[in-house]
Amino acid sequence: TPPEQIRNFCIIAHIDHGKSTLADRMLQITGVVEERAMRAQYLDRMDIERERGITIKAQNVRLPWVLDGQEHVLHLIDTPGHVDFTYEVSRALEACEGAILLVDAAQGIEAQTLANLYLALEKDLHIIPVLNKIDLPSADPDKYAAELAHIIGCEPTDVLRVSAKTGAGVRELLDEAVRQVPAPVGEADAPARAMIFDSVYDTYRGVVTYIRVVDGRISPREKIRMMSTNATHELLEVGIISPEPKATKGLGVGEVGYLITGVKDVRQSKVGDTVTWERRGATEPLAGYREPKPMVYSGLYPVDGSDYPVLREALDKLQLNDAALTYEPETSVALGFGFRCGFLGLLHLEITRDRLEREFGLDLISTAPNVVYEVTLDDGTELVVTNPSDWPGGSKIGDVREPVSKVTVLAPSEFIGVIMELCQGKRGVLLGMDYLSEDRVELRYNLPLAEIIFDFFDSLKSRTRGYASLDYEEAGQQSADLVKVDILLQGEPVDAFSAIVHKDAAYAYGNRMATRLRELIPRQHFEVPIQAAIGARIIARETIRAIRKDVLAKCYGGDISRKRKLLEKQKEGKKRMKTVGRVEVPQEAFVAALSTD
Ligand code: GTP
Repeated sequence: TPPEQIRNFCIIAHIDHGKSTLADRMLQITGVVEERAMRAQYLDRMDIERERGITIKAQNVRLPWVLDGQEHVLHLIDTPGHVDFTYEVSRALEACEGAILLVDAAQGIEAQTLANLYLALEKDLHIIPVLNKIDLPSADPDKYAAELAHIIGCEPTDVLRVSAKTGAGVRELLDEAVRQVPAPVGEADAPARAMIFDSVYDTYRGVVTYIRVVDGRISPREKIRMMSTNATHELLEVGIISPEPKATKGLGVGEVGYLITGVKDVRQSKVGDTVTWERRGATEPLAGYREPKPMVYSGLYPVDGSDYPVLREALDKLQLNDAALTYEPETSVALGFGFRCGFLGLLHLEITRDRLEREFGLDLISTAPNVVYEVTLDDGTELVVTNPSDWPGGSKIGDVREPVSKVTVLAPSEFIGVIMELCQGKRGVLLGMDYLSEDRVELRYNLPLAEIIFDFFDSLKSRTRGYASLDYEEAGQQSADLVKVDILLQGEPVDAFSAIVHKDAAYAYGNRMATRLRELIPRQHFEVPIQAAIGARIIARETIRAIRKDVLAKCYGGDISRKRKLLEKQKEGKKRMKTVGRVEVPQEAFVAALSTD
């Protein structure tokens, strides 16, 4: 297809604002999927993917559309909707010339959508503002059209109104996409350059790589080279998705499709990388490639120690499809054998943990998440600390740097006060505030990432009765006054409870953990002191008093079988106990102490 007839765009929307429904409606209206075949949301159906033996990545789909008698090809490109995947979003946007900004006409724009809109504007994409769900009685399209117009600087009348559910306005939207979105521009005769904007591991075919061709042409049976690593691969298949994968004779300038080389691991086909020919290939890669970099670390341990090999296998499998997930074995006095895992953010952590539990039937404990610290020692040595147990001893530390984030909060203006109070309590620095409409504000803060990963989102939601929405992106490093707080049982440190915290928050953390553990750990035959310490300095202390009575005393000495039963029961209980020094702690106590409330 000649580039003049191609339009590449994505849909930027908040979860539940109707992206999938709109994409489905587009598939149906363009005749790519018949109405009868559209019972459930077509593109979301995982079992279909399995049957076909190829992973249909939700919305990377090619749609034919005729406007004024001229045929066109529309490529709808999927963008991930999670805060942690900003880089993936930026690559998907890079593959487009336009974006549909889809907003629920009963809700208005949300923080994450706004953040992705800014990304799209930075990339000079043409934005088509659209209000969805106009069929809803609670829809207020006039109000939100004004809001959108104010944000992107257009007229309220430029804001399209659709119902993805009924199909109203969707044909007009497709027409406008052809009229407004610029056609791709590239050099047809230059050596091929295609950008990878997604790659998915498929059990049957290996990695399926989604590309957007910028220059030249990618044809099957050629040899290609990944420019970030110089690895070469034989192309087994090149194709388009419409809506099923279909092999083609090649992809030219501006076209979007997939390629299969038989590699088995998404890390060999990295998002953002440039694909070129092996021979006579391009010399300059496309701009913007970045290695995935974990931002948040946490220890993952099986509750049942014998599940350790299962956990290892499960992580191996997940990594095939997740280039950003890292892990290495780690042992903890309290929790036994497990893995130290690196994630893009808290959500990535939660998704991964959830998948491990659901798909692999594992029961896991995760230690309190921490960010990555850069430490300069007095002698000039530089350290990168991803685990509190690697924190260097106190006196030698010169400077510590922690990651900071730029946070955007959108909320009704009545909540400005409580939001500011929350952010200030988390060491936030106000960057700016804007009214989006009379009663909605956007607040921008600089906040240490470490504060965000610790129950920030939950506090924000509860203080604003669920009305606030949040987005954050990394914004470099800042020096901070941080200390490591250890928790000791009878003088023995419990590694899983050590945390790096700001100096001002150290006492609160120490007190909270000590109090919690006193409540969670059963009394023993001797007194157990619980202490919180910074280095050798004790900052909090609680005591579990000793029990005086022996369990056997109850048995009146006589009944032997009863006595044996009791002893066995005690032994049973001990299996799930972890011993720290002389203290026996039930597994549940560790789990409970580590859960954030
Ligand atoms: P995620 O897949 O979770 O990201 O959500 P999404 O943005 O793709 O939203 P989805 O298409 O799943 O729609 C969310 C809900 O809104 C579903 O229950 C849809 O049926 C409903 N919905 C979508 N569009 C419309 C619309 O135009 N009118 C009405 N009344 N409901 C709609």
